[in-house]
Amino acid sequence: MPKLHVNVDHVATVRQARRIAEPDPVEWARLAERAGAHGITCHLRKDRRHIQDADVARLRETVTTLLNLECSLDDEMVAIACASGADEVCLVPENRAEVTTEGGLDVLGESERLKHALPRFRERGIHISLFVDPEDAQLAASAALEAEFVELHTGAYANATGAERERELERLRTSAERAHALGLRVNAGHGLNAANVGPVAALPHVEELNIGHALVARSTFVGVDAAVREMLDCIAGAARVGGRA
Ligand code: PXP
Repeated sequence: MPKLHVNVDHVATVRQARRIAEPDPVEWARLAERAGAHGITCHLRKDRRHIQDADVARLRETVTTLLNLECSLDDEMVAIACASGADEVCLVPENRAEVTTEGGLDVLGESERLKHALPRFRERGIHISLFVDPEDAQLAASAALEAEFVELHTGAYANATGAERERELERLRTSAERAHALGLRVNAGHGLNAANVGPVAALPHVEELNIGHALVARSTFVGVDAAVREMLDCIAGAARVGGRA
């Protein structure tokens, strides 16, 4: 079954609304790990709107599963990510005006900056993932750069309904197959929740699902432990049905 990596950004969003110490994303992450999360993800944005530099350092000290740091290709962010001690870095596009990461990385357009950044991560033993839209050209460019993982952007699937959702799911399936055939490992995420995660968890080759907003939102009603366990059950159930147990 795919692993569940829990994104704690929006615990920090609530804290930053008051700029005080609570709620603490590090404590939330500890509870998520205790509930069975396989990894913890955070996104250090250039504008520091939610996760702060000190959170990354504290997460590194306390996370016992796997720490995945998302960041942009900005020089400052790449330097911080290299020094962070994260196990995995996911490179994402970043636009100051956006509410959340809107599209995948333009791997072709960013190939020069990627050619400089990727060896810096590799020499530190950090696993690299590129957050991409499920498109052949992005996958081919990621493979040409010898990225280890691609994270398929599931936002279009999550936002679609009816026949369009089926088409988006098919795009994800085709991309997962294609990425695997190109020698890339496959993760997926964005906009996933308990109601829509099943078909993505059943896709071939998907190793890690990154889920944040829905888990943080659900935890306000049922607590962190129940929210994470519910999601793990959804993933396990779907993976079993899809032959990916
Ligand atoms: N994956 C990536 C690369 C992201 O940028 C985000 C959002 O920070 C997520 C997954 C998680 O998205 P969501 O919060 O909608 O679950």
